[in-house]
Amino acid sequence: MAVERVFLIGFMGSGKSTLGRWLKNALGWSFIDMDEVFEAEYKTTIKQFFADKGEAAFREAERAVLHSLLNEKKAIIATGGGAPCFFDNLEVMNKHGLTIYLKLSVDGIISRISGGKNVRPLVAEKSGDELRQFITEKLIEREPFYTKARVIADAEVLGVEGYVKIIEQAG
Ligand code: S3P
Repeated sequence: MAVERVFLIGFMGSGKSTLGRWLKNALGWSFIDMDEVFEAEYKTTIKQFFADKGEAAFREAERAVLHSLLNEKKAIIATGGGAPCFFDNLEVMNKHGLTIYLKLSVDGIISRISGGKNVRPLVAEKSGDELRQFITEKLIEREPFYTKARVIADAEVLGVEGYVKIIEQAG
């Protein structure tokens, strides 16, 4: 059966949104950024939502956003970094599309996350050793979920053509 939607999963800063935009152009599919849908739906920033309501409420709301996207067709969906690690979200994604884990090392994440760090509440206040320790620990906690993706991609080396091939072969 042809792939109708692709879920890009992986840690904050792993390049899900950037890759999603490239794939949109390469495949002529639509691109959906779950974080952007969240902010439009709840009319606030994720950072503000965390501050007002806390992480548990964020995870519930994030799950609702995921479920609202399951009928999208020919869509590349960049998911929030924590989304696959809560509830049955990963199983739901595996059932409704092709999941691709953009796997990066801790160093790779650190070098890519710095630009967008301030809008991400889990890391906004962290830098240096504290940031490294947080990413190292969170990655250990999250990898058992991420690695249940259908495809594990080496995001340090794989270019957009590589992802296009993976998606075409899966379909
Ligand atoms: C989060 C990642 C963020 C966003 C929120 C929480 C996480 O998405 O959903 O700040 O728990 O890793 P990105 O991975 O797009 O930064």
